[in-house]
Amino acid sequence: MTQTYRIASIPADGVGKEVIAAGRKVLDFVAEQSNGEFTFQWDDFDWGSEYYARHGKMMADDGLDTLKDYDAIYFGAVGWSNVPDHISLWGLRLNITQNFDQWANIRPVKFLPGVQSPLRKADDTELDWVVVRENSEGEYAGLGGRNLSGRGPGNEVALQTALFTEKGCERIHRFAFELARTRTVKKVSSVTKSNAQQYGMVLWDETFQRVALDYPDVATESVLVDAMSAKFILHPEDLSVVVASNLNADILSDLGSALAGSLGLAASANINPERRFPSMFEPVHGSAPDIAGQGISNPIGTIASGALMLDHFGLHAQARAVEAAIEATTAAGHLTREIGGTATTDQVTDSIIEALSHALVSA
Ligand SMILES: NC(=O)c1ccc[n+]([C@@H]2O[C@H](COP(=O)([O-])OP(=O)(O)OC[C@H]3O[C@@H](n4cnc5c(N)ncnc54)[C@H](O)[C@@H]3O)[C@@H](O)[C@H]2O)c1
Repeated sequence: MTQTYRIASIPADGVGKEVIAAGRKVLDFVAEQSNGEFTFQWDDFDWGSEYYARHGKMMADDGLDTLKDYDAIYFGAVGWSNVPDHISLWGLRLNITQNFDQWANIRPVKFLPGVQSPLRKADDTELDWVVVRENSEGEYAGLGGRNLSGRGPGNEVALQTALFTEKGCERIHRFAFELARTRTVKKVSSVTKSNAQQYGMVLWDETFQRVALDYPDVATESVLVDAMSAKFILHPEDLSVVVASNLNADILSDLGSALAGSLGLAASANINPERRFPSMFEPVHGSAPDIAGQGISNPIGTIASGALMLDHFGLHAQARAVEAAIEATTAAGHLTREIGGTATTDQVTDSIIEALSHALVSA
């Protein structure tokens, strides 16, 4: 019997629409080649900044209730000039990740053949690591307030409080160690700032050390976030799994994808490991208003996020086939403009499908 995966598609804003269309094309092709083993049923949701202009909100009131029964969410990017960024982000993307307890955010940093890295070392060193981002609390807990003093204009006060719980730290550290066990280099690097942030980050460190005792086969290190940003550039070959709090991982994963050549290449999965809620798969990049609508956005980050979705469904061979097709495409020089090529979004997508047709036929 054919397995149907029901996916909620939320392209949202700007290039989100282009890259989600590209990703769906690739995933549908993978399903077509499965000889009836599985298929995707896509349901479209037009939430985002245009929806906000019409309705004064980023998504429908019963949106979370509607989404909760889907097998997964495929998300583009949110953010446009008509809505302040903190409203668009909290109104849609963070609304979903927080309420669906997608507490683990996986962000692989992959160096693709044919894509020039600004990092000289990448030419002759094998580089591939994954950032595991705590995705439910930390600096993005949404705790704080404004105008607490009531002292009037010019005297405003704002508090933005980071939240660290022992349970939150423990589950993300365990997740990172389990992931490290599946990789060739079994090592977890914890990113901290406990020298300056003596409460939350010390709890983070202590939990990391305690969890590490259960994984004697996995090497560990604890690195300050400032030193880790230098390490990404100077000694990236030392990295395998990098676990970091919400804000630190957000910044470091953009640095990682820039080192790999472009933000447009970076994939991301927001996982609810208990599977009580659907997980959400999306590129790392935003809505890229500077290039939106021109058909030149790089679809690879979104297509690679689709591969992470296939993994989530246990379709590992298909996920590897998509990744191999991406590599074949970049190696053949089919590159979008921001990484030095001339190909359009459609041309890169078609090239990946072409490479997949060979891979899936010969599999
Ligand atoms: N996950 C999300 O939904 C998300 C993430 C980051 C930013 N945003 C929002 O996106 C909007 C724009 O933010 P920004 O400019 O800081 O970040 P951005 O990621 O949209 O763009 C940064 C740079 O990367 C380039 N870029 C991004 N994606 C690309 C792709 N697929 N192909 C080629 N080039 C690509 C852009 O052209 C731009 O030069 C803002 O409203 C911001 O809040 C949303």
